[in-house]
Amino acid sequence: MIEQFSRPVEALGKETAKKELHELEAILERANKAYHLDDEPFLTDAEFDALKRRAFDIEKKYPELKELFSPEFMLGARPNERFERVNHAVRMLSLGNGFSDENIADFVERMRSYLGLAAEAPLPCTAEPKIDGLSLSLRYENGVLVQAATRGDGAVGENVTENARTIADIPQKLTGAPDVLEVRGEVYMSHEDFAALNARQLEKGDKPFANPRNAAAGSLRQLDARITAARPLRFFAYAWGVLSEPLAATQFGSIKRLKALGFQTNPLTKLCESLPEMLAHYRAIEAQRATLGYDIDGVVYKANDLALQARLGFRSTTPRWALAHKFPAELAWTRLEKIEIQVGRTGALSPVARLTPVTVGGVVVSNATLHNEDYIAGRDSKGEEIRGGKDIREGDWVQVYRAGDVIPKVADVDLARRDPGAEPYTFPHLCPECGSEAIREEGDAVRRCTGGLICPAQAVEKLKHFVSRAAFDIEGLGAKQVEAFYKDGWVKEPADIFTLQERFGSGLQQLKNRDGWGEKSAQNLFDAIAEKRAIPLAKLIFALGIRHVGESSAQLLATHYLSWDRFVDAMTTAGPCEGAEWDELLSIDGVGETLGRSVVSAFHDGPERDAILRLAAHLTVQDATPPSSESPVSGLTVVFTGTLERMTRAEAKARAEALGAKVAGSVSAKTNILVAGPGAGSKAKKAADLGVKVIDEDTWLSMIGAT
Ligand code: IVH
Repeated sequence: MIEQFSRPVEALGKETAKKELHELEAILERANKAYHLDDEPFLTDAEFDALKRRAFDIEKKYPELKELFSPEFMLGARPNERFERVNHAVRMLSLGNGFSDENIADFVERMRSYLGLAAEAPLPCTAEPKIDGLSLSLRYENGVLVQAATRGDGAVGENVTENARTIADIPQKLTGAPDVLEVRGEVYMSHEDFAALNARQLEKGDKPFANPRNAAAGSLRQLDARITAARPLRFFAYAWGVLSEPLAATQFGSIKRLKALGFQTNPLTKLCESLPEMLAHYRAIEAQRATLGYDIDGVVYKANDLALQARLGFRSTTPRWALAHKFPAELAWTRLEKIEIQVGRTGALSPVARLTPVTVGGVVVSNATLHNEDYIAGRDSKGEEIRGGKDIREGDWVQVYRAGDVIPKVADVDLARRDPGAEPYTFPHLCPECGSEAIREEGDAVRRCTGGLICPAQAVEKLKHFVSRAAFDIEGLGAKQVEAFYKDGWVKEPADIFTLQERFGSGLQQLKNRDGWGEKSAQNLFDAIAEKRAIPLAKLIFALGIRHVGESSAQLLATHYLSWDRFVDAMTTAGPCEGAEWDELLSIDGVGETLGRSVVSAFHDGPERDAILRLAAHLTVQDATPPSSESPVSGLTVVFTGTLERMTRAEAKARAEALGAKVAGSVSAKTNILVAGPGAGSKAKKAADLGVKVIDEDTWLSMIGAT
């Protein structure tokens, strides 16, 4: 097996090196699976290590190849399918970001206005470092640690209990804690421990970690808890999930309580009375950043009063009561070797800068986004100059910046270092993947391939989206696998996934013989596919990959139409973008014309519709449940008018919607309830004329069970 890799690495040309890396990756993955999943190792430890080292050496010779390969086997981290899944009863959310003092002032103002507080009314907030690690949820029952789970997609994480038990900062037992307590916080690695770990990695001939966060993630997500134990991980507690009783009445008080219970909490957590105090603490933390001994990437502000946090609630995936104030991006200069065009799921042509690798804030960057053709030309979407009108050319020296997790960007160009022979970049008008015309619609910054599903890039990207976590999330079938299946012609569209087993039938041999697949893993794949034949409506709508349809709009469509058949009928009938069905689509709060047109066009007669229907034929689509159907106002259309005295319009609307009501701006025959405060005028009159029920704010509040 390993004889085939006998040529000295120095002698390998780039293409051979690439081919070898592919082969090595496949063998190492297969070896990993054979060892850990099937208990049938076919490589000795020494052989495994030798192949791993060879892959590492090839990457060292051709760093640009690194991006092509899965780092998983190199890191020794196990693919997530190895961990049991854990459902988070309280979702693990992310944070909205702010980048300037102004953004933070807006954040505080948004909270005040949502809560109906006066401009200068006090609104104390905590401010604390944003730790650059990975979040972990720890569940204690009767004071005993019973489960630790990673964030995963926020709803479902991975069970890493045994590994978490090896972390000294995580108490195994608590005294005086609520019966049920989920403590959330960040696992991280200190700079010192990171440097020592990397030195050990190099000594062993293993690949060093790119940064402390990767090291922490790779160490926590080990199947063998002994490896985690040997890696010095730490933990800061800063939030909570399920609680049988509150920890305290405030954020600050809760953190103090967590500290008293034995958790590490960040000593730079401060209760700030005002915006200037928050910003001053941000500056103080920023000034200490380099000497803290661990990575932080900003400061997190949280409304201190937990009752206010509860009122403020969440917007789809981020809380209204918290915000991350990110530190400014990190910068570096390097050479732009080539501009390449990538074609996305919806046909967008995105220019990517291939760079001479450069370290930006501790991470090696060799690719960066160039946004779109205007950006390269030095214009913004309105045709106005950016970067003083300087365009970007292949061969230029460019400034690259990255902020947190976002894709690195090319920010500036150094004209003094431009080769006098450098030509301006011409953006292609034909799709580089399929040759179809690529057009730019008026008002759109992006040029798009018109090839639709005949464009292999669009087809592959659609498939990747289809199997992604928030969509079908089929275990063992990730982006890499669908791409390989597409190349081999086995899976051209989502429907093909569901006929894989049937087409292979007993001839499982074909799949088995592929690198990385054994009988057991092939069967696991078929089982995982079968498991996803029953799929909730919202997931299916999202998985279709229709332009403008994200997770939350898919959810809106699902909760409105409830069943797949009704949804397909409605989208078909709404096709001409006029008539009752079209009006109904646009009546959904959150569905605008752009989204509406995009969805109905996917259901026009044609190849896209055919592919969707072919897919649906293999599925059992689970009906959506109308939101909180037990709520007394679910499904009702409500209009608010006049002055509300107990909460702001925004809060009233958000609460009504959370209970399944639809909030409209004007009274019509469809209105069920008009909530009229003092000063109600024409709307109240119209409601009376139409015989619509009119109630005051207090009656409304008691109707929805609010106090
Ligand atoms: S609070 C509901 N506080 O940042 C909000 N998050 O970008 C819960 N993080 O997923 C998060 N330090 O992993 C919070 N002091 C801190 C944090 C922090 C780091 C991470 C956390 C979260 C991510 C969001």
